[in-house]
Amino acid sequence: MDVFQIEGPVRLRGHVDVNGSKNASLPIMAATLLAPGRSTLIGVPVLADISVFKKLIEQLGCPVERQEDGALAIDATKIDNPVGPYDIVRQMRASVCILGPLLARCGRVEVSMPGGCAIGDRPIDLHLLGLRQLGAQIHLKAGYVIAEAPQGLKGASIFLGGPFGSTVLGTANVMMAAVLAKGRTIIESAACEPEVADLAHCLNAMGARVSGIGSPRLTIDGISHLHPVQYRVIPDRIEAGTFMAAAAMTGGEVHIGHCRTDDMMAVVDRLRNIGVTVETNGDGCTVAAGERLVPADITTQPYPGFPTDLQAQFMALLAMADGNSVVVEKIFPDRFMHVAELTRMAANLRKEGSAVLVAGVKRLIAAPVMASDLRASAALVIAGLAAEGTTTVNRVYHIDRGYERIEERLNRIGAKITREEGGTV
Ligand code: EPU
Repeated sequence: MDVFQIEGPVRLRGHVDVNGSKNASLPIMAATLLAPGRSTLIGVPVLADISVFKKLIEQLGCPVERQEDGALAIDATKIDNPVGPYDIVRQMRASVCILGPLLARCGRVEVSMPGGCAIGDRPIDLHLLGLRQLGAQIHLKAGYVIAEAPQGLKGASIFLGGPFGSTVLGTANVMMAAVLAKGRTIIESAACEPEVADLAHCLNAMGARVSGIGSPRLTIDGISHLHPVQYRVIPDRIEAGTFMAAAAMTGGEVHIGHCRTDDMMAVVDRLRNIGVTVETNGDGCTVAAGERLVPADITTQPYPGFPTDLQAQFMALLAMADGNSVVVEKIFPDRFMHVAELTRMAANLRKEGSAVLVAGVKRLIAAPVMASDLRASAALVIAGLAAEGTTTVNRVYHIDRGYERIEERLNRIGAKITREEGGTV
């Protein structure tokens, strides 16, 4: 199992490009299953999570090939086995987003029920509610969700809000099922995340009729079949935000290419409050640290609010601010595995329910730390860049799930990270 040795402190300077979005790519890969034939997706990053999803699609009976030009070709001519097995779903819960497209295309699907994960319980009740309202019969057998619609699906008006607001993959699943349903579907309280909008654009490029894209009310007029597509996924706003926090935290100045700041207004707003300059230019932006890091409060919310997927990285940043900040987590109230690890690096953090009080310190001190989930690991890596000494981040496979060769890309802008084999399991 690989570890990172990170020497700090460093000051990041230079240019880094953001890759295609992981969380847009996964549901879009699932969407290609709706249309018989070969679809080609451009910009899908090379990540462990994408490899898991590729395996999942292949075992349905659809060959997936990474072409020489880097595009991902998925041949969904035939689907022999509409099943998402436990072995794959337990590795990556996003596998659940094959439910909607396979139900719509095959009239039956079995997917292992995802369990909890490091960031919380993560139920799928809203996915199932939406599919039931489209006419699916759903039951649970031996840990598998079995969904059937032998007569096809029928459009419906569906309220998809839950106790924590909208659901990203739930909206994706119901939308993908509804594009082939008879009649009109309205999804109210739909997730507005740019990744959901990207999926809707891809579906429309396949011939679907989805309107209200990017708003909480999606209208979907069902059609009888879709065609394969060539589609480019959007850049990863969470990766961009991670680079922004890293630049700010190291007193650096970094130009971030392929960065859609329009999709990141809440993040840019918080950075400016922290005293960081963000200037949009061309297809990217320049992020420059100010004289000092000013404390700021952050509350995570569904889009367009501040994303939960950047909460850990911004907590690392605020840990070095000149005063007290409060970070409140409203999407996954238990998503705080990084708190204890950052504390090992001399951050002054106190967890109170779903909030963390951050008392800024002048310096972080390197320590051996353990990555627990993708975004928590990213927070530890950027804390390591700013900390004094050599930080060892164990279990970096978590970070490889969502960031492509992060150490090489950060090293090109001034980081000193080496990847070594071994480390604490
Ligand atoms: N929820 C329910 N019932 C459901 C579904 C969700 O109560 O049926 C709750 C969740 O427990 C949570 C909230 O609704 O409290 C929002 O969860 P959501 O369904 O939106 O999360 P998700 O779709 O499973 C995606 C991303 C996550 C990201 C969240 C929130 C992908 C593959 N995953 O998950 O990304 O944190 O949306 O924005 O798109 C990551 O990339 O590190 C990651 C965890």
